[in-house]
Amino acid sequence: MELKKRRIILGVTGSIAIHKSVDLASQLVKHGASVHVVMTENATRLVQPLQFQVISRNPVMLNLFNAESDWKPAHIDLADQADLLVIAPATANVIGKMANGIADDVLSTVAISVHCPVLIAPAMEDHMYQNPFVQANMTRLRDHDVEFVEPVIGDLASGRQGIGRLNTVEVILERITRRLSRKIDLIDKKVVVTAGPTREYLDPVRYISNRSSGKMGYAVAEAAYRRGAEVVLISGPTAVPPPTGIDCRYVETAMEMHEAVLAVFDQADIVIMTAAVADYRPETVSSHKIKKKADQFTFPLVKNPDIALELGRRKSRQILVGFAAETDDILSHARQKLADKNLDLIVANNILEKGAGFEGDTNVVTLLNRDGSHEQLPLLSKREIAEIIFDRAATK
Ligand code: PMT
Repeated sequence: MELKKRRIILGVTGSIAIHKSVDLASQLVKHGASVHVVMTENATRLVQPLQFQVISRNPVMLNLFNAESDWKPAHIDLADQADLLVIAPATANVIGKMANGIADDVLSTVAISVHCPVLIAPAMEDHMYQNPFVQANMTRLRDHDVEFVEPVIGDLASGRQGIGRLNTVEVILERITRRLSRKIDLIDKKVVVTAGPTREYLDPVRYISNRSSGKMGYAVAEAAYRRGAEVVLISGPTAVPPPTGIDCRYVETAMEMHEAVLAVFDQADIVIMTAAVADYRPETVSSHKIKKKADQFTFPLVKNPDIALELGRRKSRQILVGFAAETDDILSHARQKLADKNLDLIVANNILEKGAGFEGDTNVVTLLNRDGSHEQLPLLSKREIAEIIFDRAATK
């Protein structure tokens, strides 16, 4: 466990799942962490602060106006020294405040004062969790590198069944460990990532494309950058803002993506191909807008180069990771692509599954290795999946 002597702020809010937080505090202490609990007023109505104080062996912070032991306000001191802020359970209220920079109590003030990673484990009723404003707040926080331990489906405080139950202490603990052991292991490595769709033009107005938003690929590029790599992101047209610190090269067509990837391939150490490249393009591209005439209109398509296949043939020391967007026989189709394209790892997603595939901030993937083994991951944010891909790619 990577928790020895790590300073963890455990934020606790007024949710009925608070008993798991007591257990979490206890587990963290057992694993050697220095735990500092910050409770909202509502949390203190459900559990006595003394319980957290005894378990954590540290004073519990309940408001901003405790007698200061030093010249520095205690919440700033705590925030400055923290290795991680975990909020478990987190209500919709604290999530909303954090997403909007509101600091009107001790926990929300600590949350905007920290400069360490933040992990949030929500717990709330299903309707609250699915509320579009709550989801938008979570997306906003994810965009700023806040991680979520997604709630699970189960019995809720209302007596209903649904999504919103706080995840288990084991899962939260595992995620804390993973977050704290995030590696800077790609220093001196060059990582090339393809992302987004391609557009295959028929004329200056129309094109064939697909639903890829680029989110998966951008998350991968950002993860590589965070881990210290020099990153080239070769992106089809997307609405995702260019990530800072990354060499972004924009293309439109599969042919342009092919050329851009080959231009950097020889210097690359790891290539991750998340792009949804069109397999075919119109045989001819009209230089003028095609006019409406006959009742039916057909046009021939020709095959695009398969970039991954070509890299698989050329590769020397490079680690090649492909993606497979599938709708049926996921594992066997992905396995076939892994072999045909000579990849080191393939990340398969069932694009028909809820929370998986195109456009969203989450994905559900299976990682398939060359030795025939595979690893099914639960629903995770695309950012979290990106981290796991590098954890696995690093061992290839
Ligand atoms: O962009 P998002 O909205 O976040 O969505 C993410 C995603 C669904 C696009 C992503 O998770 C994904 O599955 N990407 C691969 C999509 C795909 O087109 O897979 P494929 O099975 O057609 O291709 C297999 C692999 O070969 C892929 O790595 C692909 O980049 C590559 N390929 C495919 C065709 C081609 N001509 N050249 C290629 O390099």
